[in-house]
Amino acid sequence: MLIKAADQSDIAPGGMKALTLSGRELVLCNYEGAFYAVERACGHANARLERGALTGWILTCPLHYAQFDIRTGEALSRPIPKAPASAHPDPAAADLETRGLKTWPVRLQDGAIYVDLP
Ligand code: FES
Repeated sequence: MLIKAADQSDIAPGGMKALTLSGRELVLCNYEGAFYAVERACGHANARLERGALTGWILTCPLHYAQFDIRTGEALSRPIPKAPASAHPDPAAADLETRGLKTWPVRLQDGAIYVDLP
């Protein structure tokens, strides 16, 4: 089911917008004029991903810096724990994992962004 999510002019290239559609929290991302919809909650510990950084097609979580490919939702790198300044590297760091993100197809029509939700 296609649902209008925003106007294309609402999100500049490199920008993101969080919204709720049909009870699903997602983030719309603009990568060089192409739009992608990914789930809003990070696959590690549910940080709000629109507060992270979008660099090209790579979305970096603001909390522990896991990275995701917005085109596929694939997790590209693991979370990095924040260690106290005086501590040695956290031996648990290698054990941190994240799942990938859900993604939904996006369609553009007449200047509007539609997300195809099941
Ligand atoms: S909450 Fe996103 S990497 Fe931890």
